Amino acid sequence: MLKKHISILVDEVCDAIPQWAKNIVDGTAGHGGHIRAMYEKVKVDTWQETTIRWIDKDGVMIDRLNTQKNEGNWPDSIYFLHTPYDAIGDIESIKWKIDYLLLDIGINWEHVVDAERWFSIKADGPLDMRFDTTQWKTARDYLMLVSPENLSCALQAYGDFPPIRAKKIADYIVHNRRKNGLATTNDFKKLLQDMWLGNRRCAIVYQVVRIVVNDELGHLERFLETFWDWLAPGGRCAIITFHSVEDRQVKKAFKELHKSSNFTLVSKKAIQPSRQEKEKNKASRSAKLRIIERNR
Ligand SMILES: C[S@@+](CC[C@H](N)C(=O)[O-])C[C@H]1O[C@@H](n2cnc3c(N)ncnc32)[C@H](O)[C@@H]1O
Repeated sequence: MLKKHISILVDEVCDAIPQWAKNIVDGTAGHGGHIRAMYEKVKVDTWQETTIRWIDKDGVMIDRLNTQKNEGNWPDSIYFLHTPYDAIGDIESIKWKIDYLLLDIGINWEHVVDAERWFSIKADGPLDMRFDTTQWKTARDYLMLVSPENLSCALQAYGDFPPIRAKKIADYIVHNRRKNGLATTNDFKKLLQDMWLGNRRCAIVYQVVRIVVNDELGHLERFLETFWDWLAPGGRCAIITFHSVEDRQVKKAFKELHKSSNFTLVSKKAIQPSRQEKEKNKASRSAKLRIIERNR
């Protein structure tokens, strides 16, 4: 098990910052690994004039970062905001335009090791899985209420299960959920294992539930519909995804913007971690980075 979160594609993310950038937004703050690296990169003489807004849907992350700031560990020009990244435009849209906007979509190390939050197949804890703990719907609520048809669709769309397999799993879960109770991770794991699903498939089902409970694709879709309007001329948006469905969404949206001739793809193909990075950090294996620039 990893001892801490290792940020992914850090050099590539930092190299993409426009030299003149003064307004930077990290829409998925997590532990702040990318922000620290960006801070190192720009701090020499421009940092005092650079404003960074740092956003996360997980209030636990934001509270911690605010505590660090109160203790003097972050400059005044960094702001931490508890909000989903697709709502960035609601914050102060009229007052500023963004020069560099980063998303690193997924879970961080703490989500995996904190059994209370239930993001991992390996740890036992309440069946929760919410990024935002103020949201009412936990993984248990979802699994207790979902129809077999909707669950089957989700398993096909986000877990790549073939239709017959997806239907079988969904029917089994729905049929047995009351008897099992689904109070904890282990309850759910047991239900999946009763169907003879191996660890890898169990992990995929867990991931599908996480994606749905947190409306992860909905957030990305809404973001992709609007982010371009928040960028300053010459500003860039960089997005790291870990799931093929998300990468397809980003690729399609960037391609459409590129066609409009107001935007340019910074790299035609997705940037992937080097072999060394993949060996050092297994979590980086499926990462893809795409960057787009708004023309001046
Ligand atoms: C992979 S981590 C980011 C790690 C960070 N870049 C680093 O280097 O430390 C992804 C973060 O995105 C947050 N997140 C997920 N969905 C979000 C959303 N819709 N809006 C804002 N933050 C979100 C999660 O809570 C998590 O902390």
